[in-house]
Amino acid sequence: MIQRPRGTRDFLPEEMERRRHYEQILRQVACSHGFREVSTPIFENTELFTAKSGPNIVEEIYSFEDKGGREIALRPEVTASVIRMFINEMTSAPRPLKLFYFGQCFRYERPQSGRYREFYQFGAEIIGAPNAETDAEAIALAAAMVEALGLREYDLKVGHIGILRGQLAELGVPADAAGEILQKLDKKLYDEAAPLLRSHGVQEDGIESVFATTQVAGGKELLSEIGGEPGRYLNELFRFLDAYGIDDVAIDLGTVRGLDYYTGVVFEVEAPCLGAEKQVCGGGSYTLSEVFGGEPVFSTGFAIGFDRILLALEREEHAFDGKKLDAYVLPTGEETREESFRIAARLRREGLSVDVDLMRRKMSKAMKQAAATGARFAVIVGSKDLAEGAVTIRDMDSGEQSLVPLEGLAKALSA
Ligand code: HAM
Repeated sequence: MIQRPRGTRDFLPEEMERRRHYEQILRQVACSHGFREVSTPIFENTELFTAKSGPNIVEEIYSFEDKGGREIALRPEVTASVIRMFINEMTSAPRPLKLFYFGQCFRYERPQSGRYREFYQFGAEIIGAPNAETDAEAIALAAAMVEALGLREYDLKVGHIGILRGQLAELGVPADAAGEILQKLDKKLYDEAAPLLRSHGVQEDGIESVFATTQVAGGKELLSEIGGEPGRYLNELFRFLDAYGIDDVAIDLGTVRGLDYYTGVVFEVEAPCLGAEKQVCGGGSYTLSEVFGGEPVFSTGFAIGFDRILLALEREEHAFDGKKLDAYVLPTGEETREESFRIAARLRREGLSVDVDLMRRKMSKAMKQAAATGARFAVIVGSKDLAEGAVTIRDMDSGEQSLVPLEGLAKALSA
């Protein structure tokens, strides 16, 4: 038997129905906020991901040389691709651009519950509107999505990475060394962050003050205490969040994010029921366009970890009833078999979801199969009924049967 690669999953029909159902909800919410869908390649030139994060990122991604000797990587996320696409094809489009996407990402991680090597992100980016209301719009969309999915318990926290970046710069840490330190702080690995800070000449009190910043967390009352440009910006942001009716937001200056490109507001949504891998959504504003040779352009966005948020819904025991077939058509015998197919074809053309017996089963067995498919009705095609231009339909829940004229069949089945 050949096994799946580690960290990948198969999705059986029930699970796919559930996934499509929730994906559709996210799509609707994105469209209702004026976002339009885009799609970019699943593989890109590796340099798209190393340009900002440096060559070390190769350890964490699936990258390889293709047959033409090109360095290729499976995308670990979609933001870099969207910005590349923006620079390649959309710089003259009216601004802001409000784009969303759904698709696979790949990371070479140690698989565990909620963490896979192939996983799905539903994300959104807003490009070209350099204002606090743009960050508010991104956060509002993320919150609306989580609400629409029905997740009951979640925490939304907002920070500003400019505060820590500014602090590190003041302490003399070069900008290109900040990324590694921030990554340690993101994981609260203070023991590993401290020697890095020391290696850039930061004294113990400086280290303490950086760590203290990452511990600043609380409610809106903190807004008045955060100084400088980031403080002003956060105050403005919260006014727009307030206007959007989003008030259950925590401030957490320890929100650092794992990716390197964030420069402004950052935010995360956590589902506590997930334990260690509880981050179901993350985002913020970032600088990438310049890194790829484009003009400087304000951009902000987020991605929902689709698999994780579905896992959270499962933990919260949200019921999901798959869509049922409208009808299962079965002949009473050989003499009406072909007519059954004619009827099934007509019903399908009329927009109903219909299955039909392909196994030449006897009627009782075919009826069992009809029940197994979960069809709402069985359409029983018998020669006596047909002679009168009718068929018998059976309500699979109640067992009630009735004779229905063929021309009224579709209507009777959709009633
Ligand atoms: P990220 O935080 O790296 O951000 O990923 C977004 C979400 O994807 C995470 O919050 C998590 O739910 C999910 N996720 C990440 N890795 C895995 C994994 N191995 N298995 C399952 N789920 C995972 C980004 O990717 C940014 N591009 C988001 C963004 C968009 N920022 C601005 N615009």
